[in-house]
Amino acid sequence: MAAASAPGKLILFGEHAVVFGEPAIAMAVSARFGIEGTPGSALTIDGAPPDPERHRYILKAMEHHWDGGPLTLTTRSAIPDSAGLGSSAAVSVATLALLSSFSTPKEPPALAEAGYRVELQVQGRASPIDTSTAVHGQAIFVDSRRGDDLLWSIEGLGNVWHVHHVDLPELSLVVGETGIHAHTGPLVDGVRRLVERDAEAAAAVEAIGDISREGRLALAEGDWVRTGELMDRNQKLLETLQVSHPTLDKLIAKAREHAYGAKLTGAGGGGSMVALTDQPETVADDLRAIGAHVHMVRSEPLGVQVEA
Ligand code: PMV
Repeated sequence: MAAASAPGKLILFGEHAVVFGEPAIAMAVSARFGIEGTPGSALTIDGAPPDPERHRYILKAMEHHWDGGPLTLTTRSAIPDSAGLGSSAAVSVATLALLSSFSTPKEPPALAEAGYRVELQVQGRASPIDTSTAVHGQAIFVDSRRGDDLLWSIEGLGNVWHVHHVDLPELSLVVGETGIHAHTGPLVDGVRRLVERDAEAAAAVEAIGDISREGRLALAEGDWVRTGELMDRNQKLLETLQVSHPTLDKLIAKAREHAYGAKLTGAGGGGSMVALTDQPETVADDLRAIGAHVHMVRSEPLGVQVEA
């Protein structure tokens, strides 16, 4: 028997701007996906034959990274689906780590590369933020420029992403889901069109890059006041890029009553917001009271783990 697990993620700074080569910061969260495998007589996942839709990340990982016999796989997940918490990346990375543990275990850079390819093949487009966070844990700074504390570099879709380590003291966050499901692709395309015709939007993309750079320093120092201010400023710029939503704005305003800062996280247009707070219970209650589905998460030091 072998087992592997990987954490979910949150984007703290830089979503959308990262598509234009600006830096972004993502952190691992204390909700993990786990998978166990034993040799069996036919491939099963959680006691049944695999479902081509539900298990597409596991099946894609097996298609390219498994030439052994049938496996009996068992999964467990504490990462909510479709909440912008990186569940598909954790599934891809944990599955790849499990499969490689049966022969030659992949090192983190190879897992990050393979995880990115699995997401790319399943989704058609992806940045390596989610999968690299699932591999590394803690937090990462993704940039088109190479800097200090480089972990690995990943090429795809005409881009090169340099993935760097970020020091992150322990912190608590509250995630509020709007319940509005928005699709990343059209939102990214909308931002591209806006940036092409509107100088203010183009300037917002650059300003978000500066916020990610400052945010990296504020996080490393555990300066939550500064981090919260930067989150608020990042949100304003995301509004300029027209990816917020009235329900997100409402949750963010409510959370800010007891938070250092709050912003949307991920693609926006609905989806989820995140608040940095030292009163997580109060913020969670306040958000629930106005209809949000709430997840309380902490920073997660551990990236992908294998237990042989
Ligand atoms: O929705 P998420 O959490 O996968 O984040 C999307 C982030 C974007 O910057 C909008 C797109 C990307 O691929 O980086």
